[in-house]
Amino acid sequence: MTYNIALIGAGQLGSRHLQGLKKINIATNIDVVDPSIGSLAIAKERFEQVENNEFIKSIRFLNSIDELNESIDLCIIATNSNIRALVTQELVAKKNIKTIIFEKILFQKIRDYKFVQDILHENKIKAWVNCPRRVFPDYIEIKKNIVPNEKLTFLLTGGNWGLACNGIHFVDLLAFLNDNNNFTFDSSCLDNDSQMSKRAGFIEFTGILQGKQSNGSDIIINARDGSNAPHVITITGENSIFIIDETSGEIRMALSKNDWRWENRQLRVLFQSQLTGDIVEEILTNGNCNLTSFDESAQIHIPYISSILEFYNKSLNKITETLPIT
Ligand SMILES: NC(=O)c1ccc[n+]([C@@H]2O[C@H](COP(=O)([O-])OP(=O)(O)OC[C@H]3O[C@@H](n4cnc5c(N)ncnc54)[C@H](O)[C@@H]3O)[C@@H](O)[C@H]2O)c1
Repeated sequence: MTYNIALIGAGQLGSRHLQGLKKINIATNIDVVDPSIGSLAIAKERFEQVENNEFIKSIRFLNSIDELNESIDLCIIATNSNIRALVTQELVAKKNIKTIIFEKILFQKIRDYKFVQDILHENKIKAWVNCPRRVFPDYIEIKKNIVPNEKLTFLLTGGNWGLACNGIHFVDLLAFLNDNNNFTFDSSCLDNDSQMSKRAGFIEFTGILQGKQSNGSDIIINARDGSNAPHVITITGENSIFIIDETSGEIRMALSKNDWRWENRQLRVLFQSQLTGDIVEEILTNGNCNLTSFDESAQIHIPYISSILEFYNKSLNKITETLPIT
């Protein structure tokens, strides 16, 4: 049996997914769709940088969804967030899709979460969202020291690392660590001036986004204007403290069972090209994977987007239902 895989959006990240797909260990046909000739050319070049793999039975670089196979076992939607809901609608209307991996930010409008959720349920499509820290072996190790629903303080501080577009990764990480997806956020301590994001057409914020989980855990995410300091995470639980510098790959940890003695551990941050092959293989062979399910991720995204959107409208004196982050 040869599986059909479609990658929709072959930009910076999509081309890394493609490199990851080339490492798969089951027979697949891969189709890449992107309207940009430049993106397809870079994706092709990056695909060719990875060693040949006999499991890849075919690879095609296409300009439209219409050219895809009628039946697709797995689809990765790695466009930017502004068109993700429409692309999903088009894909499902035109092709028979079994499973989808969505990129974060899922959608910019709150109503798109239910809109796409309904499409997925009606068409019995299983879907996940690519917040990959939960598949990093070192975060899985950290989770072993935390009990489900444990009350944690999750503090992230750093320079201007792209809080609005990337903060969801850390909200997802906390949700993973203590198995709680119920968040509320307070965006009132974000800085008043929004800035252009590194990604053209999208905005960013500095300042502080605060949140609470239903179990009383606190999450504080900070990006400091004018600084390029690396972000550092501190997680304090009932019986453990972790200080994590993802940039240098270092963890300092202390556990109550070891009398709070400090130890150093390594954090191996995995690139997308090291992750996608295994994740896709798991979905195709077992029908599941350890990424956040769509429904859980939607539950995490909705209060996050709502809160930042409220701040965006207030600070810019706007009335819009679209939060331009990706
Ligand atoms: N999960 C992660 O760790 C992670 C990391 C980086 C980026 N991302 C997310 O991935 C998404 C893409 O980021 P990027 O840096 O690759 O952006 P990008 O702009 O480099 O790529 C987007 C691509 O989508 C293409 N596109 C536009 N319309 C399309 C359509 N109708 N059909 C198919 N393709 C279309 C564009 O031509 C472009 O090549 C963003 O939402 C970003 O936040 C996630």
